[in-house]
Amino acid sequence: MATPDPYLRQDWRMVRGVPMVCAFSFDWDRIDNFQSRPDDILICTYPKSGTTWMCEIVDMILHDGDTDKCKRDAIFNKVPMLEFAAPGKMPSGTEQLAPMASPRVVKTHLPVSLLPKSFWDNKCKTIYVARNAKDVAVSFYHFDLMNKLHPEPGSWEEYLEKFMAGKMAFGSWHDHVSSWWDKKNDHPILYLFYEDMKEDLKREVKKTVHFLGKDLSDSVVDKIVRNTSFDVMKENPSTNYRMAPAAVMDQSISPFMRKGIAGDWKNHFTVAQDEKFNEDYKRKMAGTALQFRTEI
Ligand code: PPS
Repeated sequence: MATPDPYLRQDWRMVRGVPMVCAFSFDWDRIDNFQSRPDDILICTYPKSGTTWMCEIVDMILHDGDTDKCKRDAIFNKVPMLEFAAPGKMPSGTEQLAPMASPRVVKTHLPVSLLPKSFWDNKCKTIYVARNAKDVAVSFYHFDLMNKLHPEPGSWEEYLEKFMAGKMAFGSWHDHVSSWWDKKNDHPILYLFYEDMKEDLKREVKKTVHFLGKDLSDSVVDKIVRNTSFDVMKENPSTNYRMAPAAVMDQSISPFMRKGIAGDWKNHFTVAQDEKFNEDYKRKMAGTALQFRTEI
């Protein structure tokens, strides 16, 4: 009989009170002791909020819009995920990052409480992308259906309950977006919204160019905007995760580049689910000035 895989479809494991992907949760010292460099650029998000989109935008900005250079490798190799690990199968995020030339671009979904101290000490520039909770829940559900490093999501009804309770990889959406929002006060963070990117990508790319201290012509910015559209990234093998092992991400169940819109939640939430979600949301977000748009 085949030995069950130690990482596939395993339950979360808690790391200091935060539910973590089982495969990532071992040897957490590698995260706590990670040494950032002052010119590292951190892209931080709650999962399914536009991480891959922003990773590709930043890579294109750093390469002055050169599409050939940006096709040099898969997005998960160009911009390693700090906490990623699948021992014995693939190099971990920290192993990928160690030999990389500066400036490194680092992806993470870690909440404020788990970010390695070195990023704070070095005041590394951080781009945080936030997306409205309802679309995140829908996107995360489809991702959990196809991503075998996560436990089986169960029914949508059950999943939404778990989302509201923060029983998700990387914990509560509400805590994540609001604690990173508060961190803007004492750390260089560009806090962007997925819905704003959908509304006017050029405006948001220009903000990012400025934050990174780059000076790009209007035509280069236009080229970046064109090449980071959903339709182009969906067909681009370096951004659509087709290079990821199918045994882990089964895109025949749901594609990584799924719909890429704001407001898809309306196709999934029942009226009763929406009312319950709104009620819970109001309570959990009462203490923050942070505002989201659930459609544009
Ligand atoms: S992950 O696994 O957490 O890193 O996923 P992440 O990249 O954060 O989010 C995936 C969702 O972002 C959508 N996406 C885009 N939307 C618009 N434009 C572009 N270029 C783009 N690239 C990725 C992707 O389709 C996922 O959202 P859903 O709603 O599932 O389609």
